[in-house]
Amino acid sequence: MSEEPIVDLAALGADFARDPHPTYAELRRQGPVHRVLLPEGFTAWLVVGYEEARAALSDPLLSNDWRNSPGVADTDDDPWSSPHMLISDPPRHTRLRKLVVREFTPRRVQALGPRVQKVTDELIDSMLARPDGRADLVKDFAFPLPAAIICELLGVPFSDRDKFHHWTTLVTKQWNGAEAEAALAELDDYLKTLLADKRVHPGDDLLSGLVRRREEDEDALSDGEMVGLSVLLLVAGHETTTSLLSNGMLALLRHPDQLSELRADFSLLDGAVEEMLRHSGPTGTSLHRFTTEPVRIGGRTIPGGGELVLIGNTPANRDPSRFPDPDRFDIRREAAGHLAFGHGIHACFGAPLARLEAKTAVRSLLERCPDLALDADPAGLTWYPSVMMRGLPHLPVRVRATSRTGS
Ligand code: HEM
Repeated sequence: MSEEPIVDLAALGADFARDPHPTYAELRRQGPVHRVLLPEGFTAWLVVGYEEARAALSDPLLSNDWRNSPGVADTDDDPWSSPHMLISDPPRHTRLRKLVVREFTPRRVQALGPRVQKVTDELIDSMLARPDGRADLVKDFAFPLPAAIICELLGVPFSDRDKFHHWTTLVTKQWNGAEAEAALAELDDYLKTLLADKRVHPGDDLLSGLVRRREEDEDALSDGEMVGLSVLLLVAGHETTTSLLSNGMLALLRHPDQLSELRADFSLLDGAVEEMLRHSGPTGTSLHRFTTEPVRIGGRTIPGGGELVLIGNTPANRDPSRFPDPDRFDIRREAAGHLAFGHGIHACFGAPLARLEAKTAVRSLLERCPDLALDADPAGLTWYPSVMMRGLPHLPVRVRATSRTGS
């Protein structure tokens, strides 16, 4: 274990969750890599500089495999009973990713366009029908939209959304040890049962397709890998997009000049979504990486032997050496190159779907809700206490300016 001084991010509490950027700016001024204590309760090396983060994301000396972490390094156990590509290194990673990427063709994503629009319209209809003109943009829109789409794509019943959302939120945004581990086990069991059912009653969804292929080709995916993949796709397919929609809309609503420019000219939409990803993206850091041998990052040597390294997507995306005046939200800026979707072999392949959902959602909200406004003081909003995921449990908004008579 390293004797490096530790920056205690946990001690900053809710202030850090609400606005980590001043702390990250100070850390970046001091250097691109720091040893930190996280609100999640463990210590890690945190990479905060853009160039160093990008390089670290494709450094083969950093392993995603938990078997390289101290404690489990010498056993054959997989700490997660259901391995998946994000906790695997090549060659297992290559094999698992290839099997799914071929299901996520641009054509399949494009074909989802009308369905994404329909779900978006229905959710906006329900919000507009509220007598008081008020809504929680997370609960009423940003969660059910990507959840409905990933459920349809995977063949997971949308009627189970409250159940699985409770587990996936604990796993991604409220990691607190035992309770979150239990949630992960419940999610595993839930998907195990669902996959068993798909064996008997297959549909034309993606999970049924993988089950079918598995039965034709014994070598395709083990039982545990099938479950791991289903968990990963369900979690990654909606938790992140939910936070992109809510964090991104919050940024837009806090910048009325940018909001009116976008309303007046939707050719700015693609750039606006990229800027939401850069400025207010949902991924605070990468998932865990472990050193397999001493590794040089930003001129420092991190010891080998399973040191935990987190690569800071959020601080990298606010690095002034890459994005001038980085705290300014500017939908016209060149935001390309941001690390919100990661980089390297683990870069997000769901990005085209996330972008499709975000563009449809933002445009439809602005077109159909001309009076859309925040219904809370932004400084008083609660954020999830996670360094890995940046997200809001609630975002109160007014979807209509005036209440209906009698309400
Ligand atoms: C705004 C939405 C999204 C964001 C910001 C996002 C971000 C990311 C990031 C940063 C990674 C890499 C993590 C790391 O290197 O540790 C990743 C990986 C991944 N994402 Fe996404 N994601 C989003 C939406 C989606 C969607 C909609 C899906 C699926 C339909 C998805 C599926 C995956 C998968 C399977 C991986 C693992 C890839 C691998 O290990 O090779 N993501 N995502």
